[in-house]
Amino acid sequence: MKKESPLWYKNAVFYEVSTRAYYDSNGDGIGDLNGLTQKLDHIQHLGVDCIWLLPIFPSPLVDDGYDIADYYDVHPDLGTIDDFKELVKETHKRGMRIIADLVVNHTSDQCEWFKKAEADVHSPYHDYYVWSDTDQRYTDARIIFVDTETSNWAWSEKTQQFYWHRFYSCQPDLNYDNPAVREEMKNIMRFWLDMGIDGFRADAVPYLIEREGTTCENLPETHAYLKEMRKLIDEEYPGRILLAEANQWPQDLRPYFADGDEFHMAFQFPLMPRIFKALAKQDVSPIIEILKMTPSIPDNCQWCTFLRNHDELTLEMVTEKDRQFMWQVYAPVNRMRLNLGIRRRLAPLLDGDAKKIELLYALLFSLPGTPIIYYGDEIGMGDNIYLEDRDGVRTPMQWNNGKNAGFSDAMEETLYLPVIKSDQFSYLHINVAEQMQDDSSLFNHIRKLLAIRKSNPVLAEGDYEVIPHTSDPALLVIKRSDPHETIFALHNLSNQTIAFDLQSHLGHEEIIYNLLEELPLNEKCCQLRPYAYTWLKIANSD
Ligand code: NOJ
Ligand code: CA
Repeated sequence: MKKESPLWYKNAVFYEVSTRAYYDSNGDGIGDLNGLTQKLDHIQHLGVDCIWLLPIFPSPLVDDGYDIADYYDVHPDLGTIDDFKELVKETHKRGMRIIADLVVNHTSDQCEWFKKAEADVHSPYHDYYVWSDTDQRYTDARIIFVDTETSNWAWSEKTQQFYWHRFYSCQPDLNYDNPAVREEMKNIMRFWLDMGIDGFRADAVPYLIEREGTTCENLPETHAYLKEMRKLIDEEYPGRILLAEANQWPQDLRPYFADGDEFHMAFQFPLMPRIFKALAKQDVSPIIEILKMTPSIPDNCQWCTFLRNHDELTLEMVTEKDRQFMWQVYAPVNRMRLNLGIRRRLAPLLDGDAKKIELLYALLFSLPGTPIIYYGDEIGMGDNIYLEDRDGVRTPMQWNNGKNAGFSDAMEETLYLPVIKSDQFSYLHINVAEQMQDDSSLFNHIRKLLAIRKSNPVLAEGDYEVIPHTSDPALLVIKRSDPHETIFALHNLSNQTIAFDLQSHLGHEEIIYNLLEELPLNEKCCQLRPYAYTWLKIANSD
């Protein structure tokens, strides 16, 4: 059964999963809820505490389910509400939790609310959306999907008005100045929370409310509504969580935690691209700088750290110069670029280099925050940049080297997306079955790191300090400590061996244990081979 501490999310590991991509239980070529339920043992075996489920609602799937047509049901391709309840039950049975996406900001234009809004301007649903006679309002708001949209306003032939949308034009924004919308979203929360889910990853939260003369992001009125959502959780569903998707600079991100009365968690967006930049430059200063810029958060809050997710690797929170650098290094081919980002998975970004992949995971697991692993990245799955939009990083999970990578019994031609077959990342050699048998596989490395992290809670919840002035700019030393113990996490982000002298950071009577080797370390100077990492635990000799 799941553990009962209300602060469970502060020391946890999350796993992001696309139901459609995971496992097809009924042979129609599309992964489904029952399929996911059948594969829960894999997720548990990895050492995951909480699953984040990408949208599962009825949808025309123009934005892969982030365009919701009905908030109170499950997409028929994926199963039924009963299948969902079964998934929740089985997840809890394994001691894990599960949160779902809550798409707060917008619906699909196929949602009944929008259809009614367009059909009759006097319908109560008309005011569910944001309308205007001109497209010259809120002109200070940026366009997010720059590759496809030219305006945040779209013309409705039916109403002869413009409607507001921050994402695709088929995703009209909801009007949070309307109390009925505010209540509706709360009822949606209750609907899913009543089925036992453990919270929500709330999508696109900076954009709820629009005001003239502003960027229409992070407005105080938006924060006020988000606090109402939190109040609902605290009063009616204590112990459940809200995780914010707010792709913002640290100073704008911090207010989403407020005084510990808004979000429990928020993605650490600015950190992520800097990890990749630091690796490419063999210089850890971008990581150190952003950590310095990141304000501390209330005790009941936690960051969510990640390397990759289902979207493009976003370069929105970097300077123009860094964006050009990142594109040159990590997206040399034009098709790898999308909007202000890079549509590639973790393993191809790092040329399939196992040492670098492990290093970045180790780094993620020693930095402050709760890490999220994107499905498939635990085995180093590849991508397909020739698919449209972000589909290239959403291909079927590779379970074994059999038909359709063990994902589905269907005819290959009917799969929702093709499996990865390219030489380097083909499912023939990159798959769960093979990695489970191999002690030195990426899957088993991550599993081992997570297990060590679990048995050393200081790595998740201890104070952290970056040790300055180490011997080399490519060496990142993170000290995690609490009153009982100290761990030094060392990471060499370069292709050269680096030495680190621990002596000056220690007291007299201390012994150093290498947590990864399970051996005491006699030398107080560590040699780190290219792209090596290690976790050293300091204990008193008595
Ligand atoms: C963020 C989601 O992660 C992304 O996939 C989606 O397209 C936008 N929000 C719009 O919902
Ligand atoms: Ca299916």
